[in-house]
Amino acid sequence: MQIIRTKNELKEAIRSERKLGKKVALVPTMGALHQGHISLVNLAKQHAESVVASIFVNPTQFGPNEDFSKYPRTEKEDIGKLEAFGVAIAYIPTIEEMYPEGSITQIHIDKISEELCGAFRPGHFNGVATIVTKLFIQALPDIALFGEKDYQQLYIIRQVVRDLDIPVNIIGAPIIREKDGLAMSSRNRYLSEQEQKVAVSMYKTLSNAAKELQQGKESDDVLLTAKELLLHAGFIKVDYVELRDATTLSPVKNAMKPARLLAAAYLGTMRLIDNLEVTI
Ligand code: PAF
Repeated sequence: MQIIRTKNELKEAIRSERKLGKKVALVPTMGALHQGHISLVNLAKQHAESVVASIFVNPTQFGPNEDFSKYPRTEKEDIGKLEAFGVAIAYIPTIEEMYPEGSITQIHIDKISEELCGAFRPGHFNGVATIVTKLFIQALPDIALFGEKDYQQLYIIRQVVRDLDIPVNIIGAPIIREKDGLAMSSRNRYLSEQEQKVAVSMYKTLSNAAKELQQGKESDDVLLTAKELLLHAGFIKVDYVELRDATTLSPVKNAMKPARLLAAAYLGTMRLIDNLEVTI
Protein backbone atom coordinates (compact mmCIF):
# COMPACT_ATOMS: atom_id res chain seq x y z
CA MET A 1 0.00 0.00 0.00
CA GLN A 2 1.28 3.45 -0.87
CA ILE A 3 1.07 6.12 1.83
CA ILE A 4 0.72 9.52 0.25
CA ARG A 5 0.66 12.90 1.95
CA THR A 6 0.48 15.45 -0.87
CA LYS A 7 -2.10 16.10 -3.57
CA ASN A 8 0.52 16.10 -6.33
CA GLU A 9 1.79 12.67 -5.35
CA LEU A 10 -1.81 11.48 -5.09
CA LYS A 11 -2.57 12.64 -8.64
CA GLU A 12 0.56 10.89 -9.90
CA ALA A 13 -0.23 7.63 -8.09
CA ILE A 14 -3.82 7.59 -9.35
CA ARG A 15 -2.68 8.38 -12.89
CA SER A 16 -0.46 5.26 -12.71
CA GLU A 17 -3.40 3.12 -11.50
CA ARG A 18 -5.52 4.41 -14.37
CA LYS A 19 -2.79 3.66 -16.91
CA LEU A 20 -3.10 0.04 -15.79
CA GLY A 21 -6.77 0.24 -16.71
CA LYS A 22 -7.96 0.21 -13.10
CA LYS A 23 -11.20 1.77 -11.94
CA VAL A 24 -10.63 3.96 -8.86
CA ALA A 25 -12.81 4.09 -5.73
CA LEU A 26 -12.42 6.69 -2.98
CA VAL A 27 -13.34 6.05 0.66
CA PRO A 28 -13.07 9.37 2.53
CA THR A 29 -12.61 8.98 6.31
CA MET A 30 -11.46 10.92 9.34
CA GLY A 31 -9.56 7.87 10.59
CA ALA A 32 -10.07 6.03 13.91
CA LEU A 33 -11.24 3.26 11.63
CA HIS A 34 -13.79 0.65 12.69
CA GLN A 35 -15.84 -2.09 11.01
CA GLY A 36 -18.08 0.53 9.38
CA HIS A 37 -15.11 1.94 7.46
CA ILE A 38 -13.88 -1.56 6.61
CA SER A 39 -17.31 -2.37 5.15
CA LEU A 40 -16.91 0.68 2.86
CA VAL A 41 -13.48 -0.56 1.75
CA ASN A 42 -14.88 -4.04 1.08
CA LEU A 43 -17.79 -2.61 -0.89
CA ALA A 44 -15.37 -0.38 -2.82
CA LYS A 45 -13.36 -3.45 -3.83
CA GLN A 46 -16.48 -4.97 -5.38
CA HIS A 47 -16.81 -1.93 -7.66
CA ALA A 48 -13.23 -0.93 -8.45
CA GLU A 49 -9.79 -2.49 -8.83
CA SER A 50 -8.00 0.29 -6.98
CA VAL A 51 -9.22 1.63 -3.62
CA VAL A 52 -7.96 4.94 -2.24
CA ALA A 53 -8.82 5.69 1.40
CA SER A 54 -8.24 9.16 2.78
CA ILE A 55 -7.67 9.96 6.43
CA PHE A 56 -8.13 13.62 7.31
CA VAL A 57 -9.70 15.12 10.41
CA ASN A 58 -11.26 18.07 8.69
CA PRO A 59 -11.20 21.22 10.86
CA THR A 60 -13.80 23.11 8.83
CA GLN A 61 -16.60 20.71 9.71
CA PHE A 62 -16.15 21.18 13.48
CA GLY A 63 -17.77 24.09 15.30
CA PRO A 64 -15.76 26.24 17.75
CA ASN A 65 -17.07 24.30 20.77
CA GLU A 66 -16.84 20.87 19.16
CA ASP A 67 -14.30 18.10 19.62
CA PHE A 68 -11.80 18.77 16.80
CA SER A 69 -8.76 18.64 19.10
CA LYS A 70 -10.11 15.61 20.98
CA TYR A 71 -11.20 13.66 17.88
CA PRO A 72 -9.42 10.25 18.00
CA ARG A 73 -6.27 10.10 15.89
CA THR A 74 -4.93 6.56 15.43
CA GLU A 75 -2.91 6.81 12.23
CA LYS A 76 -0.60 3.83 12.81
CA GLU A 77 -3.46 1.40 13.52
CA ASP A 78 -5.50 2.86 10.66
CA ILE A 79 -2.68 2.29 8.17
CA GLY A 80 -2.39 -1.33 9.35
CA LYS A 81 -6.12 -1.88 8.84
CA LEU A 82 -6.21 -0.28 5.39
CA GLU A 83 -3.25 -2.37 4.28
CA ALA A 84 -4.79 -5.59 5.68
CA PHE A 85 -8.02 -4.95 3.78
CA GLY A 86 -6.36 -4.39 0.43
CA VAL A 87 -6.41 -0.60 0.03
CA ALA A 88 -3.98 0.49 -2.71
CA ILE A 89 -3.39 4.07 -1.57
CA ALA A 90 -3.78 5.68 1.86
CA TYR A 91 -4.00 9.44 1.37
CA ILE A 92 -3.15 11.23 4.63
CA PRO A 93 -2.65 14.94 3.92
CA THR A 94 -1.79 17.60 6.50
CA ILE A 95 -4.07 20.56 7.27
CA GLU A 96 -1.65 22.85 5.39
CA GLU A 97 -1.84 20.59 2.33
CA MET A 98 -5.65 20.65 2.31
CA TYR A 99 -6.10 24.28 3.37
CA PRO A 100 -3.01 26.25 2.31
CA GLU A 101 -2.75 29.68 3.90
CA GLY A 102 -5.23 32.03 2.31
CA SER A 103 -7.91 29.39 1.54
CA ILE A 104 -11.23 31.20 1.83
CA THR A 105 -13.61 29.32 -0.49
CA GLN A 106 -16.34 27.12 0.94
CA ILE A 107 -19.28 25.31 -0.59
CA HIS A 108 -22.63 26.33 0.81
CA ILE A 109 -25.66 24.12 0.38
CA ASP A 110 -28.99 25.88 0.71
CA LYS A 111 -31.82 24.81 3.06
CA ILE A 112 -31.08 21.17 3.85
CA SER A 113 -27.65 22.04 5.33
CA GLU A 114 -29.50 24.09 7.96
CA GLU A 115 -31.95 21.37 8.92
CA LEU A 116 -31.62 18.29 11.17
CA CYS A 117 -27.93 18.19 12.25
CA GLY A 118 -27.24 21.42 10.36
CA ALA A 119 -29.65 23.32 12.62
CA PHE A 120 -27.51 22.40 15.63
CA ARG A 121 -24.10 22.42 13.95
CA PRO A 122 -23.98 25.65 11.91
CA GLY A 123 -21.50 25.43 9.04
CA HIS A 124 -20.87 21.71 9.55
CA PHE A 125 -22.16 20.59 6.15
CA ASN A 126 -20.39 23.44 4.35
CA GLY A 127 -17.16 22.07 5.81
CA VAL A 128 -18.06 18.51 4.81
CA ALA A 129 -19.08 19.50 1.28
CA THR A 130 -15.92 21.57 0.82
CA ILE A 131 -13.49 18.87 1.92
CA VAL A 132 -15.29 16.09 0.03
CA THR A 133 -15.33 18.19 -3.15
CA LYS A 134 -11.62 18.90 -2.74
CA LEU A 135 -10.96 15.18 -2.33
CA PHE A 136 -13.01 14.46 -5.47
CA ILE A 137 -11.02 17.03 -7.46
CA GLN A 138 -7.71 15.75 -6.14
CA ALA A 139 -8.43 12.05 -6.67
CA LEU A 140 -10.92 12.16 -9.58
CA PRO A 141 -12.35 8.78 -8.51
CA ASP A 142 -14.89 6.83 -10.54
CA ILE A 143 -16.87 6.09 -7.40
CA ALA A 144 -16.89 7.25 -3.79
CA LEU A 145 -18.43 5.51 -0.80
CA PHE A 146 -20.12 6.91 2.31
CA GLY A 147 -21.97 5.26 5.17
CA GLU A 148 -25.68 5.70 5.78
CA LYS A 149 -24.93 6.36 9.45
CA ASP A 150 -24.45 9.99 8.34
CA TYR A 151 -27.60 9.88 6.26
CA GLN A 152 -27.94 13.66 5.86
CA GLN A 153 -24.25 13.90 4.89
CA LEU A 154 -24.77 11.25 2.21
CA TYR A 155 -27.81 13.13 0.89
CA ILE A 156 -25.89 16.44 0.81
CA ILE A 157 -22.90 14.90 -0.97
CA ARG A 158 -25.21 13.47 -3.65
CA GLN A 159 -26.76 16.94 -4.02
CA VAL A 160 -23.36 18.65 -4.38
CA VAL A 161 -22.23 16.09 -6.98
CA ARG A 162 -25.43 16.66 -8.95
CA ASP A 163 -25.34 20.47 -8.67
CA LEU A 164 -21.66 20.84 -9.56
CA ASP A 165 -21.60 18.14 -12.26
CA ILE A 166 -18.84 16.25 -10.48
CA PRO A 167 -18.26 13.06 -12.47
CA VAL A 168 -18.30 10.60 -9.58
CA ASN A 169 -20.77 7.89 -8.74
CA ILE A 170 -21.78 8.01 -5.05
CA ILE A 171 -22.49 4.73 -3.31
CA GLY A 172 -24.16 4.63 0.10
CA ALA A 173 -23.49 1.70 2.42
CA PRO A 174 -25.66 0.34 5.24
CA ILE A 175 -24.95 1.20 8.88
CA ILE A 176 -22.76 -1.33 10.67
CA ARG A 177 -23.90 -1.96 14.24
CA GLU A 178 -22.45 -3.57 17.35
CA LYS A 179 -24.22 -6.77 18.47
CA ASP A 180 -26.38 -4.70 20.83
CA GLY A 181 -27.50 -2.42 18.00
CA LEU A 182 -25.29 0.60 18.67
CA ALA A 183 -24.27 2.17 15.36
CA MET A 184 -20.48 2.04 15.01
CA SER A 185 -18.73 5.38 15.26
CA SER A 186 -15.15 6.52 15.81
CA ARG A 187 -16.29 8.48 18.85
CA ASN A 188 -17.82 5.42 20.57
CA ARG A 189 -14.41 4.60 22.05
CA TYR A 190 -14.92 7.56 24.39
CA LEU A 191 -18.13 6.13 25.91
CA SER A 192 -17.86 4.81 29.47
CA GLU A 193 -19.49 1.45 30.26
CA GLN A 194 -22.48 3.23 31.74
CA GLU A 195 -22.77 5.58 28.74
CA GLN A 196 -22.61 2.63 26.35
CA LYS A 197 -25.75 1.21 27.94
CA VAL A 198 -27.54 4.52 27.46
CA ALA A 199 -26.21 4.82 23.90
CA VAL A 200 -27.79 1.48 22.94
CA SER A 201 -31.18 2.85 23.90
CA MET A 202 -31.04 5.14 20.86
CA TYR A 203 -31.22 2.16 18.51
CA LYS A 204 -33.88 0.47 20.65
CA THR A 205 -35.98 3.64 20.82
CA LEU A 206 -35.74 4.22 17.07
CA SER A 207 -36.55 0.56 16.34
CA ASN A 208 -39.67 0.72 18.52
CA ALA A 209 -40.70 4.03 17.00
CA ALA A 210 -40.23 2.59 13.49
CA LYS A 211 -42.44 -0.37 14.41
CA GLU A 212 -45.16 1.93 15.74
CA LEU A 213 -45.05 4.05 12.59
CA GLN A 214 -45.32 0.89 10.52
CA GLN A 215 -48.37 -0.06 12.57
CA GLY A 216 -49.94 3.25 11.53
CA LYS A 217 -49.53 5.26 14.76
CA GLU A 218 -49.64 9.05 14.45
CA SER A 219 -46.07 10.23 13.72
CA ASP A 220 -46.23 13.36 15.94
CA ASP A 221 -47.05 11.17 18.96
CA VAL A 222 -44.44 8.55 18.09
CA LEU A 223 -41.67 11.15 17.68
CA LEU A 224 -42.57 12.94 20.91
CA THR A 225 -42.60 9.67 22.85
CA ALA A 226 -39.24 8.68 21.32
CA LYS A 227 -37.71 11.98 22.53
CA GLU A 228 -39.09 11.42 26.02
CA LEU A 229 -37.78 7.86 26.08
CA LEU A 230 -34.28 8.99 25.10
CA LEU A 231 -34.24 11.53 27.93
CA HIS A 232 -35.60 8.94 30.32
CA ALA A 233 -32.88 6.48 29.23
CA GLY A 234 -30.17 8.98 30.20
CA PHE A 235 -29.51 11.23 27.20
CA ILE A 236 -29.08 14.73 28.57
CA LYS A 237 -30.37 16.63 25.51
CA VAL A 238 -32.22 15.49 22.40
CA ASP A 239 -31.49 17.67 19.36
CA TYR A 240 -34.16 15.99 17.25
CA VAL A 241 -36.09 12.85 16.40
CA GLU A 242 -37.59 13.34 12.96
CA LEU A 243 -39.29 11.43 10.19
CA ARG A 244 -38.16 12.40 6.71
CA ASP A 245 -38.73 11.20 3.16
CA ALA A 246 -35.90 8.73 2.49
CA THR A 247 -35.13 10.19 -0.95
CA THR A 248 -35.80 13.93 -0.63
CA LEU A 249 -35.23 14.32 3.12
CA SER A 250 -38.28 16.56 3.30
CA PRO A 251 -40.42 16.21 6.44
CA VAL A 252 -43.18 13.61 6.21
CA LYS A 253 -46.02 12.56 8.45
CA ASN A 254 -47.17 8.99 8.77
CA ALA A 255 -44.73 7.69 6.16
CA MET A 256 -46.59 6.68 3.04
CA LYS A 257 -43.37 6.52 1.02
CA PRO A 258 -40.05 4.97 2.11
CA ALA A 259 -39.02 7.15 5.03
CA ARG A 260 -36.12 7.57 7.40
CA LEU A 261 -36.33 8.09 11.11
CA LEU A 262 -33.38 10.19 12.26
CA ALA A 263 -32.19 11.20 15.70
CA ALA A 264 -29.40 13.13 17.41
CA ALA A 265 -28.89 13.40 21.16
CA TYR A 266 -26.22 14.19 23.73
CA LEU A 267 -24.67 11.80 26.20
CA GLY A 268 -22.46 13.97 28.37
CA THR A 269 -20.49 16.05 25.87
CA MET A 270 -20.84 13.44 23.14
CA ARG A 271 -23.38 13.84 20.40
CA LEU A 272 -24.75 10.58 19.00
CA ILE A 273 -26.64 10.23 15.74
CA ASP A 274 -28.49 7.29 14.26
CA ASN A 275 -31.20 6.58 11.72
CA LEU A 276 -33.41 3.77 10.53
CA GLU A 277 -35.38 2.95 7.44
CA VAL A 278 -39.16 2.97 7.91
CA THR A 279 -41.08 0.87 5.46
CA ILE A 280 -44.83 0.83 5.55
O1 PAF B 1 -18.00 11.01 7.50
C1 PAF B 1 -16.84 11.42 7.70
O2 PAF B 1 -15.99 10.75 8.28
C2 PAF B 1 -16.48 12.84 7.25
O3 PAF B 1 -17.54 13.71 7.40
C3 PAF B 1 -15.92 12.88 5.81
C4 PAF B 1 -16.95 12.44 4.81
C5 PAF B 1 -14.69 11.99 5.72
C6 PAF B 1 -15.51 14.32 5.46
O4 PAF B 1 -14.55 14.81 6.33
